[in-house]
Amino acid sequence: MSLDDAATKPHERMQTALSADLAAVNALIRARMASKHAPRIPEVTAHLVEAGGKRVRPMLTLAAARLCGYEGDAHQKLAATVEFIHTATLLHDDVVDESQKRRGRPTANLLWDNKSSVLVGDYLFARSFQLMVETENPRVLSILSNAAAVIAEGEVLQLTAAMNLATTEEIYLQVIRGKTAALFEAACEVGGVIAGKPDEVVQALATYGDGLGIAFQMADDLLDWGGSTGEIGKNTGDDFRERKLTLPLIRAVARADAAERAFWVRTIEKGDQQDGDLEQAMSLLQRHGTLEETRDEAFAWTARAQQALTVLPEHPLRDMMHDLADYVVARLN
Ligand code: IPE
Ligand code: IPE
Ligand code: MG
Ligand code: MG
Repeated sequence: MSLDDAATKPHERMQTALSADLAAVNALIRARMASKHAPRIPEVTAHLVEAGGKRVRPMLTLAAARLCGYEGDAHQKLAATVEFIHTATLLHDDVVDESQKRRGRPTANLLWDNKSSVLVGDYLFARSFQLMVETENPRVLSILSNAAAVIAEGEVLQLTAAMNLATTEEIYLQVIRGKTAALFEAACEVGGVIAGKPDEVVQALATYGDGLGIAFQMADDLLDWGGSTGEIGKNTGDDFRERKLTLPLIRAVARADAAERAFWVRTIEKGDQQDGDLEQAMSLLQRHGTLEETRDEAFAWTARAQQALTVLPEHPLRDMMHDLADYVVARLN
């Protein structure tokens, strides 16, 4: 790796390596997010799509296909499908989480309303299915439609686990695997499938996506406790306010003494939160060292993802996928 490469973030290097593919994907996204009859749709989608977004998931689809030697263009449709599913879930997620900031901008639910976000999200879901059907590959249809169901399942499981101090690490893992890792996994897997690779390779891509997605969400959960709003383009402290039990909190609750437990019962179970409670919660996580522990867990998933990559053919894109796994957690430093 040259010094120049080292200075550039892995997803930016991927962007450069895949720039022609990515331009085609962005054109596809712009064309398909339009609507002839309902002007609200392009208003909302343009607001979100023009804000950017890292395009990590579609890049993974493109990279997986290319490193498997794929030379057609159906992977572009798959990449756009993946980004549409992602965008639809973000619209719905910001309604569910009552979030006010996304990609450094006010959320659609804040600028328009919940109804618009839900319905435009539905529209994008439907558009994503139209796009993937055009590939006429039944296996990718099965993988991506399955992922869409698992994402929704993860979000619903999270909903019912919120406010519940008895939430276990197993449930947490199930939630993040569903709501986040499933799409990373599918994004990688379909790249190998469209390239016609054998099961061993497709499975390695899936394992990479799963590990990367889990590490990514653990990092996101850490940033919610610690990042600055400017840095991540979203608000911090959302999870505490929403009374969501992410890993740092689950472990702190498990180790709480009587007074600490009373604090968690009041703020998380009863939802009685006052000024200074977020800071108090933070200091309890620090006392029990659960933020560092979560970071270590995230790195363990990263290592698992990278291990899976060794099955794949040597390729510059494979190296970038390796570095990307480090980066999603290292952005915490
Ligand atoms: C945000 O994903 C949703 C999570 C799974 C945490 P990204 O951080 O990839 O969002 P964008 O697309 O870059 O905005
Ligand atoms: C994002 O979950 C997962 C999905 C969009 C399905 P979060 O609610 O934790 O992500 P952010 O922090 O809002 O991006
Ligand atoms: Mg959210
Ligand atoms: Mg959410």
